[in-house]
Amino acid sequence: MMICLRVLGSFILLSIAGIPFACEGNLQGDVGENVEWPAVTVPTEGSPWPLPQNMQTGTDVFALSDMTFRFSYAGATSCNILDQAFLRYFDIIFYGHPLRKAEGKPQYGAHMKPSKLGANLLPGLTVAETDCSEMYPSLQSNENYTLTVSSDMASLKAASIWGVLKGLETFSQLVYESDMGGLIVNSTTITDFPRFAHRGFLIDTSRHFVHVKYIFQMIDALAVNKMNVLHWHITDDQSFPYESVMFPMLDAQGAFSPMHVYTQLDIAAVIAYARDRGVRVMPEFDTPGHAASWASIKDFLTPCYSGGKPDGTTGPVNPIVNATYDFLGKFFGEIHDVFPDNYVHVGGDEVSFKCWQSNPDITEFMKQMGFGTDYAKLEQYYMQKLLALLDSLKVQSIVWQEVVDNGVQVSDTTVVQVWLDKWQDEFAKATKAGHRVLLSTPWYLNRVGNPYSKPWHADYKVNPRHFNGTAEQKKLVMGGEACMWGEYVDGTNIIQRTWPRASTIAERLWSASTVTDVNAAAPRLAEQRCRMVRRGLQASPVTGPGFCKFEYDL
Ligand SMILES: *[C@@H]1O[C@H](CO)[C@@H](O)[C@H](O)[C@H]1NC(C)=O
Ligand SMILES: *[C@@H]1O[C@H](CO)[C@@H](O)[C@H](O)[C@H]1NC(C)=O
Ligand SMILES: *[C@@H]1O[C@H](CO)[C@@H](O)[C@H](O)[C@H]1NC(C)=O
Ligand SMILES: *[C@@H]1O[C@H](CO)[C@@H](O)[C@H](O)[C@H]1NC(C)=O
Repeated sequence: MMICLRVLGSFILLSIAGIPFACEGNLQGDVGENVEWPAVTVPTEGSPWPLPQNMQTGTDVFALSDMTFRFSYAGATSCNILDQAFLRYFDIIFYGHPLRKAEGKPQYGAHMKPSKLGANLLPGLTVAETDCSEMYPSLQSNENYTLTVSSDMASLKAASIWGVLKGLETFSQLVYESDMGGLIVNSTTITDFPRFAHRGFLIDTSRHFVHVKYIFQMIDALAVNKMNVLHWHITDDQSFPYESVMFPMLDAQGAFSPMHVYTQLDIAAVIAYARDRGVRVMPEFDTPGHAASWASIKDFLTPCYSGGKPDGTTGPVNPIVNATYDFLGKFFGEIHDVFPDNYVHVGGDEVSFKCWQSNPDITEFMKQMGFGTDYAKLEQYYMQKLLALLDSLKVQSIVWQEVVDNGVQVSDTTVVQVWLDKWQDEFAKATKAGHRVLLSTPWYLNRVGNPYSKPWHADYKVNPRHFNGTAEQKKLVMGGEACMWGEYVDGTNIIQRTWPRASTIAERLWSASTVTDVNAAAPRLAEQRCRMVRRGLQASPVTGPGFCKFEYDL
């Protein structure tokens, strides 16, 4: 086998089985024909990701020492989330990861004397009076902040704690290691705010259980990228890993095993961990399709028929049984109590009508209701009842796009998440009907394989407002979500497969619409990956050959 490498326009010698050769031609294997071998990408230093809306960087540099640097409050504000954030960011800045601090080995030149660096010492960062009264972040939270680094002090100002957290993250990203080994930061002024309010990431814990430890890591990664929603697709056909308080048979019979259940304590821990990092946890309980794992609820699923009798299999939720709605009312009442977020995703994707069509009781019901043979009307009957239940709980609903595609009339407060092809047409249609929309079509990261065949550029270039519609319609774009479905993913690979691919989407959803140059982004993306690696996250290389100052070593 011959392998040819092309680096920066010149060909290099390779030795296979001890026989050296020089060659010109194609790369072998899954890379395909005539692929340019990517050049080395050198990471930027101290360039934040996602790119702030307004940023001026000066050439004055200040040194940071863990002996003297202090976070502090200006004014009387004190709040628990911020106290914890101060401790967390101190460790991030000086040690990368708390484990390194515990090892007693200060890394990254944290103790380097500033005189050696020829820079003045930055005494600390002060946070101006801010509103800490919101217990949890929400879609309406104010994430704006301004950050100034100048000779005497760094200062951070934000109307709410959620903006303060974003500003602390940015500050931690401005700090980099000088060539001499100590930590430094350039004089900087930043005024920053998100382009979209909903910047989400979907994890699927039904196809594979993901240990809570890795959900925490996922939330860490979201925070590094200023993403603010963990969309937790917690159940599906394959398993029901949610510990229900009111209906314990759901997880007892629906989980892969008793080990594969998120207990109420786990869930509370995930919600608290996310809250402390400014991340919302939005649960999804998908029905009427994708619900096979709910089989423990008597008569909840439709019995399918063949040859005139039940064949022992079941289909989607049985919408003609009144008890179905009593159960759903109680179940979602519990969900509303457990998850503080205002939004609950109720699914509604890929409902197969086959089983409903086979069932004579449903045929009879269709006749009585005057639905004819239009099973979309039956889906509408179900979804409208479900959405009304959530309305009565004062919960806002999000649905997958099929609900509106099938003509289900839903109130225009219902948010539509778009995942199928031709998303521009769908956005035009759904926003015309007054719905707010979330984009996911281009961002199914589970479909990403070889970075050669699908580099990150396409994800990065998507503009969620690029569709035919009025200015009013464009305002209805709430944001988007990257998705990592769980068929082939669990704790062993979820971070590697997701990051920093999802970072490109994070920048798309936060930064100005004009930030689209992939060549300018690549070295910054390389730095963002190295930053995650330094913080103990196994973010994988996506910009081709290169190196991080600190390789993964935990
Ligand atoms: C930061 O300051 C250094 C030293 O003056 C300078 O070389 C560098 O270009 C500055 N960085 C940026 C992004 O301006
Ligand atoms: C955040 O700042 C932007 C830009 O100045 C502004 O349009 C937006 O209204 C601000 N958001 C809030 C919640 O104040
Ligand atoms: C189901 O509820 C509907 C409306 O509330 C009622 O008319 C119907 O009789 C009920 N069916 C059964 C089987 O209880
Ligand atoms: C907008 O509509 C025009 C005319 O129908 C069409 O050619 C174009 O592709 C549409 N643009 C998008 C982004 O869908």
